[in-house]
Amino acid sequence: MLPVIKIEDLYYSYDNKNLAINNLSLEIYEKEWVCILGHNGSGKSTLSKLIIGLLVPLKGSIDVNGKILSEETVYDIRKEVGIVFQNPDNQFVGTTVLDDIVFGMENQQIEREEMKRRVKIFINKVKMNDFLLSEPHMLSGGQKQRVAIAGALALNSQILIFDESTSMLDPQGRENITSLIKELKTDGDKTIISITHDINEAMLADRVILMKEGKVVSSGKPDEILQDEPLLKDCGLDVPFTVKLSQKLKAYNLLDKLYVKQEDLVNSLWVLNSKK
Ligand SMILES: Nc1ncnc2c1ncn2[C@@H]1O[C@H](COP(=O)(O)OP(=O)(O)OP(=O)(O)O)[C@@H](O)[C@H]1O
Ligand SMILES: [Mg+2]
Repeated sequence: MLPVIKIEDLYYSYDNKNLAINNLSLEIYEKEWVCILGHNGSGKSTLSKLIIGLLVPLKGSIDVNGKILSEETVYDIRKEVGIVFQNPDNQFVGTTVLDDIVFGMENQQIEREEMKRRVKIFINKVKMNDFLLSEPHMLSGGQKQRVAIAGALALNSQILIFDESTSMLDPQGRENITSLIKELKTDGDKTIISITHDINEAMLADRVILMKEGKVVSSGKPDEILQDEPLLKDCGLDVPFTVKLSQKLKAYNLLDKLYVKQEDLVNSLWVLNSKK
């Protein structure tokens, strides 16, 4: 399988002293849903800004769909990669929610009827129908995130980067967006990179990439990575509650004595825990 994104030996520094990205290489494949996990300051947002050419690397290369990112290719690449930024305030350009969603599409010269169709679909998907004529700065953080997601989806890019784009949503809202991501991947043939601290979401991804100090420390299936306590600890991350619990139950040999399946128990406890 050919990678849709191939990054080789990437370096970046904001101050020419400390490396925010330090010799990072990674490949992301078509229709993959990859979750990037890492402690605050590990370089996740910097990496996403490098991929869309908002920052220029000190060294190294980024290849998107066979095109090396450069001044000549950056506009083409931006058509292929949509991003929802970590802080939704940095995303808004329109005076109303509607203007804002339409703005990106106008830039891509999408036909009017098609624009209308997409606005309707995506504003519905993020459940913000009643706010089309609201001013973005009057919305709550979570509502802004929903609008930013609708705006990015309306552009119909092949690759989507979500940088902690559900951090301000309530559990129900998060679940709603997570199932939207699943739908995009399966029905929409999208490649998805989600940067998140939401372990629940990471568990659903095809692959988890762990970052630390500007590097990729590990990459693998969610259950491999999320059950590796020493590895997670080393990256300053906590092991998911459900994993901790199942490890304890196993350690005390209690699972045989419980008349429930381990999976059901872990799922129920997860729900309880998230409602705390
Ligand atoms: N605009 C900036 N100017 C200077 N340094 C920056 C800037 N943005 C980030 N950095 C530094 O670069 C490093 C990586 O930051 P980055 O924002 O990429 O981390 P992150 O993994 O996205 O963190 P978080 O989980 O908090 O969003 C940090 O050491 C940070 O201090
Ligand atoms: Mg960040």
